[in-house]
Amino acid sequence: MLAVQAQGSEIRTVEGLATDGVLDILQACFHKHHALQCGFCTAGILMSATELLAANSEPDESIVRDVLSGHICRCTGYQNIVAAILDAASQLRERASDAGNN
Ligand code: FES
Repeated sequence: MLAVQAQGSEIRTVEGLATDGVLDILQACFHKHHALQCGFCTAGILMSATELLAANSEPDESIVRDVLSGHICRCTGYQNIVAAILDAASQLRERASDAGNN
């Protein structure tokens, strides 16, 4: 995308996911599952997965893999990344459930 195409849009980057140096749930799950790629891919995948989880609280593996297919990297089978995203989705649902019970 050309920068001019983003004019007037909200721009979020991977640096904005953590709060005061504390990883968000998705980042923590990537760390837990060793779901790391190179410095380009990890940031992009985190942002795509963040958007996915905001739109769909119960993605299944096929949906996660479909989102990941938008990334050019073909360095891996994404197994740990898929596990991390599904784990994050589960934790986010638990958090929402706990918040609803309080
Ligand atoms: Fe980044 Fe494959 S891990 S291009």
